[in-house]
Amino acid sequence: MPRAAVGTARVAVIPGDGIGIEVTGEAVRCLRTAADLHGAAIDFVHWDLGAERFLRDGVTITDDEIRRLADNYDAILLGALGDPRVPDNAHIRDILLGLRFRLDLYVNFRPCELLDPRYCPLRDIPDGGIHIDIFRESTEGAYVNMGGHFKQGTPDEIAIQEDVNTRKGVERLVRAAFEYARAEGSRRVTMVDKANALPAAGALWRRTYHDVRAEYGEIESDVMLVDAMAMDLVRRPGRYSVLVTSNLFGDIISDLAAEVTGGLGLAPSGTLHPGRHALFEPVHGSAPDIAGTGRANPVAAVRSAALMARHLGHDAVADDIDRAVRIALAAGRITPDLGGTLTTVEAGRAICDRLSGPRGDACH
Ligand code: NAD
Ligand code: IPM
Ligand code: MN
Repeated sequence: MPRAAVGTARVAVIPGDGIGIEVTGEAVRCLRTAADLHGAAIDFVHWDLGAERFLRDGVTITDDEIRRLADNYDAILLGALGDPRVPDNAHIRDILLGLRFRLDLYVNFRPCELLDPRYCPLRDIPDGGIHIDIFRESTEGAYVNMGGHFKQGTPDEIAIQEDVNTRKGVERLVRAAFEYARAEGSRRVTMVDKANALPAAGALWRRTYHDVRAEYGEIESDVMLVDAMAMDLVRRPGRYSVLVTSNLFGDIISDLAAEVTGGLGLAPSGTLHPGRHALFEPVHGSAPDIAGTGRANPVAAVRSAALMARHLGHDAVADDIDRAVRIALAAGRITPDLGGTLTTVEAGRAICDRLSGPRGDACH
């Protein structure tokens, strides 16, 4: 879903919390360097949104900030949110889910591609490799926070958490998945649900999927239950190409598909309302267990920046970053999650040093 590059692109950078701050520094370094090499004009504006700001000012994000992020930028680059000092995750809901809901970012695109077989945890790697593009709904489902508590804190407590599925919401996502499959020549689109146990939502998803796929007869299509899908992503991931699913199932299977293709440290994502707004972020979170140790892998954030460059119409910049990532991985210039010894900054620089520019010039 790229847009043509017109003038200088404006990007809002929200590093966020924990390793989000560390990996975003490397993503911006790589993108800035690649953009300079290719003569692409991108302005980065830093936004101080996250746990620190919330703990300092008692504010997560204001309506005016949401409006300015929506109106004044071509894209948002986010690191991650989440901090043990905010145990109720108020700022995650207001900032991350707030942007998804209020900017109506309904396509959460999570490509999981095995870039180097050495980083696959499976015993047997499929001959054709693994490349699974997940289309996760990201404006409804179980995430809408409708429901509530009754008799909270008593032995009779009840908690209701509704799962909202609309024809409009499902149809626009399924269509986006098929459009992508058609444009990319993907061989199959698989819809993932739990229609056996959740028949109301399942019936809506299946009927919608059935109606939309009729328009894309050249693409194979099938349906999988999410539990079987989780199993099959480990058993025979090479069978799958494009997956389309709900907010909650997409959250879960995208961590699984990320792990099968090398881990959360490599997995990028883009959350979009095509033609309107776009936010790019790694699939991983703020990883409090390793924050501040320099062990975070910056590749997922760097690849998210490459997805953003492509979205902004800078294909040559995106291609250069993707190529540099592959070369750095092949050279074993990797962080501890992949078995290496590099720090976050060293791994980021290793990618940066392998950018080639338009004529293959080395960058130093
Ligand atoms: P997580 O993704 O932060 O970490 C899961 C595991 O993967 C941890 O062991 C972590 O060390 C490892 N890991 C993740 N990213 C890595 C990287 N780049 N390099 C090396 N190792 C990496 O998930 P979690 O621990 O369940 O969540 C931590 C916090 O992040 C929570 O507050 C959660 O809500 C939040 N979260 C935010 C986002 C987001 O902002 N998009 C996404 C997921 C989780
Ligand atoms: C993700 C995250 C978020 C989600 C959390 C932090 C609310 O896990 O982006 O995958 O569930 O969408
Ligand atoms: Mn997640």
